[in-house]
Amino acid sequence: MKNEQLQELARKHLWMHFTSMGYYHENDVPIIDHGEGCYVYDIHGKKYFDGLGGLFVSQVGHGRKEIADAIAEQSKKLAYFPIWNNAHEPAIELAARLAEYAPGDLNRVFFTSGGSEAVESAWKLVRQYYTEIGEHRRYKVISRNLAYHGTTMGALSINGLTDIRNTFEPLVPGTFHVENTDAYHSHLMEEGMSSADFGKKCAYEIERMIEIEGPDTVAAVFLEPVQNSGGCIVPPEGYFQEVRNICDKYGVMLVSDEVICAFGRLGYMFGSERFEYQPDIITCAKGLTSGYVPMGAMICREFLIEPFLDPDSTFLHGITFAGHPVACKAAMANLDIFEKENLLANVRENEPLFRELLEGLYDIPIVGDVRGAGYFFGIEIVKNKATKEALNKDEAKDILFNFLSPNLYKNGLICRTDDRGEPVIQLAPPLISGPDELREIESILRKVLTEAAELVARL
Ligand SMILES: Cc1ncc(COP(=O)(O)O)c(C=O)c1O
Repeated sequence: MKNEQLQELARKHLWMHFTSMGYYHENDVPIIDHGEGCYVYDIHGKKYFDGLGGLFVSQVGHGRKEIADAIAEQSKKLAYFPIWNNAHEPAIELAARLAEYAPGDLNRVFFTSGGSEAVESAWKLVRQYYTEIGEHRRYKVISRNLAYHGTTMGALSINGLTDIRNTFEPLVPGTFHVENTDAYHSHLMEEGMSSADFGKKCAYEIERMIEIEGPDTVAAVFLEPVQNSGGCIVPPEGYFQEVRNICDKYGVMLVSDEVICAFGRLGYMFGSERFEYQPDIITCAKGLTSGYVPMGAMICREFLIEPFLDPDSTFLHGITFAGHPVACKAAMANLDIFEKENLLANVRENEPLFRELLEGLYDIPIVGDVRGAGYFFGIEIVKNKATKEALNKDEAKDILFNFLSPNLYKNGLICRTDDRGEPVIQLAPPLISGPDELREIESILRKVLTEAAELVARL
């Protein structure tokens, strides 16, 4: 199809997600044509570094023949069959493999089609679990300010993003939000305070909320290992250990939402491994298949299935496409690449260089904070570094969306500019990236951020 025709049809018929479609009345829709390794190419043949791995998805990079072949083979053998009352080999072998990778006794895998469904499933599971064991009053969920957990009504209600949540009120009742662990901004952080003390204070916010709501009414706490929204917010020292103790004290489930942080993003198969805590449930998606086909999962500790092993009891929940045989085979081929190419080790080995390169950008006056872990970093843009003065809403929009976003793109770097908290640029390169690729990211960022700093200086 001709490029002009694609533009016209995109404008007329395609509804892009979380996108101001009005903007494309007058501007070209960026149309990506193909990908290879860490790069994607648009319909004009221009090459871009995929600095966000699509959307925190593309771990093994684009154009991997091994995964395409696995998909083709399984499509010919059994393209679809549900895992309702039946099972099939691809779902069985993937469930066993994930159970093997998952920490502790996280042994039971409930597949979904994506991340929101995994979060939704986790909330529904803990609610029904507590009903089954006679603790009917436990249904509430605690999560953190600014955290993104998905868009379906349950997952949306768990979100700590006020704007995208409140637009859809009334929400599913029973969600409560506490302070996140953003040491750069948190009112809980005091001058000279150690990371461990800050971690204790942040964890105490969860305990306080459990106490306020009534311990026998709280079902679960949903936390990401590194919180995406707000700009790669890392946990302080000992935070998750404190939270684990609090959950144990009150009989509350700890759900580790690893839709982004699993499958190597932090240099480990699961983000909870990196920070050494034992969740009761892990929700995951994205990197599980590196995006070759959609898939998500909820991985549960053994005790969670116990009430459902009674022949008269069933978890009343299911999804047509969950455990899709083609998706399972894509995930297996994806995970084979992880092992063959030692991708976890690659991330761990190169993380210090990535951090050093990004922290090197501190010499640019608008780079306020660089934070993250593994191949998952955020750069917060400020107006005045010394005072941490933020850009106001209009300035932030202007700098992020009228300057940084288009200019990073023009210079060949796809990454995320986000103003859902303070303005940040986020990076999540494919896990196959090595030193050369990380340096390429830095050099484009340096050029564009330096130009942006000149604009900010004139505000
Ligand atoms: C932590 C987290 N949870 C849930 C979701 C929702 O996943 P999906 O977009 O696949 O529904 C996301 C998506 O980015 C996420 O980052």
